[in-house]
Amino acid sequence: MPSFKLAPSILSADFSRLGQQVQEAVDAGADWLHVDVMDGHFVPNLTMGPMVVRALRPLTTLPLDVHLMVLQPERLIPAFVEAGADSLTVHVEACPHLHRVIQQIHGLGARAGVALNPATPLVALEEILPYVELVLIMSVNPGFGGQSYIPTSTGKIARLRAMLVQRGLEEQVVIQVDGGIKPDNAREVVEAGATVLVAGSAIFNTRASVAANMAAFRQALRSVHPA
Ligand code: DX5
Ligand code: ZN
Repeated sequence: MPSFKLAPSILSADFSRLGQQVQEAVDAGADWLHVDVMDGHFVPNLTMGPMVVRALRPLTTLPLDVHLMVLQPERLIPAFVEAGADSLTVHVEACPHLHRVIQQIHGLGARAGVALNPATPLVALEEILPYVELVLIMSVNPGFGGQSYIPTSTGKIARLRAMLVQRGLEEQVVIQVDGGIKPDNAREVVEAGATVLVAGSAIFNTRASVAANMAAFRQALRSVHPA
């Protein structure tokens, strides 16, 4: 069993043939499918809503992992769960009542994650860690695919890993990293403690096939020693 999972972000897929692109990722061994939801307010970009999740749901049994880069996510969460989302990740910066939102997600039967922007310190997780299944460390400022990895994210992942170990939560909470992840830095983030790697532009691009791009990740991560 690999000690890491690859979660292609459909944000960089060719939307004129989204079903086909998702099928390519599934066939190439994707572990999760990452769905980036942006509202034009929390982040400057606008992307997709529950109907895209609904359209993808019949295509795969893989977990549909929804990253909500939106204000007031509680208004959208029921529709995403109903559409077939398996996990919902909300930003701590967008939720004054974060614990309530996590309870809402669990109450609807989905897995709950919390995301931190690059400038948000880990201390913001102190009280919520025991209640979540996933922490998403943003390694770019959310809003767009194709940005460069912020190098201090590696240390942040390692410190989060230590925090989880110290609290006996390392089996319960998955560390996901999102933004600028490429075969070049995949090993570094897994060795620091990330277990789910989100990648958009490194997997869906015109330079190579989805299968070749996924294989490049697996090659870079062969015999990796996770944290
Ligand atoms: C960024 C999104 C990411 C994005 C990653 O705001 O949350 O999931 O798709 O894209 P890449 O891998 O191209 O940085
Ligand atoms: Zn994302």
